[in-house]
Amino acid sequence: MNGHYFLQGLVSLLFSVLSRAQGSRQLRLVDGGSPCAGRVEILDRSSWGTICDDGWDLDDARVVCRQLGCGEALDATVSSSFGAGSGPIWLDNVRCTGKESHVWRCPSRGWGKHYCDHSEDAGVICSGFVRLAGGDGPCSGRVEVHSGEAWIPVSDGNFKLSTAQVICAELGCGKAVSVLGHMPFRESNGRVWAEEFRCEGEEPKLWSCPRVPCPGGTCHHSGAVQVVCSVYTDIRLMKNGTSSCEGQVEMNISGQWRALCASHWSLANANVVCHQLGCGVAISTPNRAEGSDQLWKAWFHCSGTESFLWKCPVTALGVPDCSHGNTASVICSGNQTQVLPQCNDSVSEPAGSAASEESAPNCSDSRQLRLVDGGGPCAGRVEILDQGSWGTICDDGWDLDDARVVCRQLGCGEALNATRSAHFGAGSGPIWLDDLNCTGNESHVWRCPSRGWGRHDCRHKEDAGVICSEFLALRMVSEDQLCAGWLEVFYNGTWGSVCRSPMDDVTVSIICRQLGCGDSGSLNSSVGLREGSRPRWVDLIQCRKTDTSLWQCPSDPWKYSSCSPKEEAYISCAGRRPKSCPTAAPCTDREKLRLRGGDSECSGRVEVWHSGSWGTVCDDSWSLAEAEVVCQQLGCGRALEALRAAAFGPGNGSIWLDEVRCWGRESSLWDCAAEPWGQSDCKHEQDAGVRCSGARTTLPLTTAGTKTTSNPLPGIFSLPGVLCLFLGALLFLVLVILVTQLLRWRAERRALSSYEESLAEAVYEELDDFVTRKESLLGSPGTVRSTVTTDLNQIRGLMSLLKIMMMLKRYQCLGLFLPLRGVRRKYPQRRRMG
Ligand SMILES: *[C@@H]1O[C@H](CO)[C@@H](O)[C@H](O)[C@H]1NC(C)=O
Ligand SMILES: *[C@@H]1O[C@H](CO)[C@@H](O)[C@H](O)[C@H]1NC(C)=O
Ligand SMILES: *[C@@H]1O[C@H](CO)[C@@H](O)[C@H](O)[C@H]1NC(C)=O
Ligand SMILES: *[C@@H]1O[C@H](CO)[C@@H](O)[C@H](O)[C@H]1NC(C)=O
Ligand SMILES: *[C@@H]1O[C@H](CO)[C@@H](O)[C@H](O)[C@H]1NC(C)=O
Ligand SMILES: *[C@@H]1O[C@H](CO)[C@@H](O)[C@H](O)[C@H]1NC(C)=O
Ligand SMILES: *[C@@H]1O[C@H](CO)[C@@H](O)[C@H](O)[C@H]1NC(C)=O
Ligand SMILES: *[C@@H]1O[C@H](CO)[C@@H](O)[C@H](O)[C@H]1NC(C)=O
Ligand SMILES: *[C@@H]1O[C@H](CO)[C@@H](O)[C@H](O)[C@H]1NC(C)=O
Ligand SMILES: *[C@@H]1O[C@H](CO)[C@@H](O)[C@H](O)[C@H]1NC(C)=O
Ligand SMILES: *[C@@H]1O[C@H](CO)[C@@H](O)[C@H](O)[C@H]1NC(C)=O
Repeated sequence: MNGHYFLQGLVSLLFSVLSRAQGSRQLRLVDGGSPCAGRVEILDRSSWGTICDDGWDLDDARVVCRQLGCGEALDATVSSSFGAGSGPIWLDNVRCTGKESHVWRCPSRGWGKHYCDHSEDAGVICSGFVRLAGGDGPCSGRVEVHSGEAWIPVSDGNFKLSTAQVICAELGCGKAVSVLGHMPFRESNGRVWAEEFRCEGEEPKLWSCPRVPCPGGTCHHSGAVQVVCSVYTDIRLMKNGTSSCEGQVEMNISGQWRALCASHWSLANANVVCHQLGCGVAISTPNRAEGSDQLWKAWFHCSGTESFLWKCPVTALGVPDCSHGNTASVICSGNQTQVLPQCNDSVSEPAGSAASEESAPNCSDSRQLRLVDGGGPCAGRVEILDQGSWGTICDDGWDLDDARVVCRQLGCGEALNATRSAHFGAGSGPIWLDDLNCTGNESHVWRCPSRGWGRHDCRHKEDAGVICSEFLALRMVSEDQLCAGWLEVFYNGTWGSVCRSPMDDVTVSIICRQLGCGDSGSLNSSVGLREGSRPRWVDLIQCRKTDTSLWQCPSDPWKYSSCSPKEEAYISCAGRRPKSCPTAAPCTDREKLRLRGGDSECSGRVEVWHSGSWGTVCDDSWSLAEAEVVCQQLGCGRALEALRAAAFGPGNGSIWLDEVRCWGRESSLWDCAAEPWGQSDCKHEQDAGVRCSGARTTLPLTTAGTKTTSNPLPGIFSLPGVLCLFLGALLFLVLVILVTQLLRWRAERRALSSYEESLAEAVYEELDDFVTRKESLLGSPGTVRSTVTTDLNQIRGLMSLLKIMMMLKRYQCLGLFLPLRGVRRKYPQRRRMG
């Protein structure tokens, strides 16, 4: 009994001594440029020693790679191919089976016994434990780890940015920029790594991060996880050779410290830098001529809220060379010890104080600026962050001078357009500014004269926007192909072509990817000369694998003619395919018409294809006659209803047609009369719709037992005569009302005060509108009625009569009723345009 316990104790003591001895041994790979390649070295009794290459093969390498968590063994190198080591040679003639857990457990000559010197040091190259696959290059893509047998994707469940940081650092890819979930798995069988990684962010390798097995071996997820790392990595402020909270801005780009160029360097960028370095907020961005030869000419467009500079959109494409010594620099408030007073809300700068561009006042301005929904950082709805809420600017008095301040503040160049009426969509939240009156020289848009912070009389449909010269867009132009064609870039307000030299595969694949056209593509060199002339904006584009969009790729500066016309780039991406109707001509009229937003193919908002896009039809003069044409053209039977006021919801895109007037028997809507394409004063709230009787048929509509085809007035033929009579009575009523009103005006010669008659109101409102547009005396809504004079009312009355008579002449009895309703609804929108 006692003997048994004694023996057991002895064995376990022996085992623990042995394993401690072995456990204190460490393994590493040296001089291979990564933690997973290099000369094999083992630490024992505080000396790092090597392994002799006699009998060194892939099975041995396999054990080393596995032991280090470096994935698969790719190569077992001999003859000190990673350079000769020093110190002891711990092992020789190693003969692993490949299954051992530690390389020193493999059979060998014995610990420290060898017949070698350091010219025979063994090395390995492992695949690494983690890789980013299926992305633009080694520095972005789906996260996959090596199980020892295969690469297995990691799920997006509980995957944190700190884990991505460790992966990017391990792969030599700088910092993590983003973590994206929901990526489709490589294979449909969807093997997923059964552990979650819980890195803190400081671990040297993913292998060293804490891991948690997923319950039941299945990780909760919604797809694979993708990580994008950035070439734009570390940042510092250098003053007189030392790093501090002020000085010139330098970035470690691809392993080299480069100063940044001061042109387009903004205070918002500076704020991000200060914040990132724990240096408080930016006080100013003085230009320093501290002479640095290697200026990095990328532009950052921060809004100021980003936690790292490399999270801000960055543009290198077309950026001009930076003049020597024009380096960006920043003075930060310091590391939070110095608390600045909050800036005064109503601070407005004295006009013409151009010098203030460089420095913020000595107070902390927490407000931020950004452009939203414009397709890039340099175009969109203007939004300002204050007190935790992003809000907008009202378009009253919004002009290019105001836009200029916004563009400059964002480092986006010149202002091209100041857009109004929620051109980029309506925002939400507060409306911070109204009646802005910038001189164009202010450093911040909120320092321009205005009504005051948060004071306005606007709604979000009046949100202001801008388009700046640095706004970029990309497209391919081809008659008959999608994802193939002439490459065009939008710059300085104009589409222009791109020059093709040298444009390698990396660049082409980044372009294809950005356009959603697949992961690869090729440059067609023998497509011939392109007709027409246009700017040839940019040449010598050289994307790196870590660039995530064409905008990040360095190139020659923007020039109107960067190359000869022969050198315009034509690209075919992997995803190319022929355009189908209606994206490619020829289309039948029927194919250029569709109904959307209804519950069947045969009811909905009417949409027409024109000039390369779907657009809607305004409901002015929209009636059953027009609906009839639409229904017949679509093979949907008879028109049951002509709906107005976006009854099927507002569409988007252009409003292609307005004032459409059909007889009702045209075979196509294209045969009806209308305003010229795209000319309308309507909003999408007035989109026309139809409800047809039938389900869609493929047969031309000829028979189907219609009761009449002989009516010479097709606009009426589909309506019961009773309705027409009713309409006539209504018209009469309107006339009576009008005459009564006219008489009353005569009698009283006073401004109108009562609008209780709703139909009459409709007519007057239209006239209000007409008059005010003519005379453009309108400031803001609600002022008209009180300011009109009696004379004006008389003119209106007469004109209303005239108008009614014109309507009588112009429309069928059907047509009369509907325009009146339309006028009523249209009124508030038109009125704002005064
Ligand atoms: C800057 O460095 C130079 C030498 O490198 C030194 O002579 C000079 O005093 C320093 N200036 C400041 C302001 O530290
Ligand atoms: C730049 O970063 C790389 C990796 O991120 C690092 O290896 C290198 O030492 C850095 N360069 C300098 C000059 O610090
Ligand atoms: C930051 O603050 C600490 C004390 O809180 C101080 O020792 C240090 O010098 C400061 N660093 C800078 C760059 O101001
Ligand atoms: C804001 O400005 C007003 C007048 O310009 C001044 O009286 C007030 O003290 C200022 N407040 C702050 C916090 O600077
Ligand atoms: C803006 O600044 C420029 C240059 O400093 C100056 O010439 C111009 O007059 C200023 N404009 C206004 C409106 O103050
Ligand atoms: C801010 O303070 C610094 C000194 O602390 C001063 O040199 C600078 O002129 C001030 N800036 C403004 C705009 O008042
Ligand atoms: C921008 O302004 C120009 C001229 O001022 C105009 O032709 C162009 O259509 C405008 N663009 C947009 C998107 O409003
Ligand atoms: C805008 O400011 C200018 C002076 O800078 C002034 O003449 C003009 O009346 C102002 N406009 C409005 C609408 O306040
Ligand atoms: C951009 O357009 C402006 C005027 O529209 C022009 O002055 C400027 O030279 C243009 N820039 C380039 C690079 O073509
Ligand atoms: C462009 O190249 C692709 C593949 O290299 C080819 O299939 C295509 O026909 C070419 N297009 C033209 C217009 O030459
Ligand atoms: C219009 O709406 C469709 C679908 O709702 C959307 O795919 C498209 O991007 C929209 N177009 C514009 C210009 O907003």
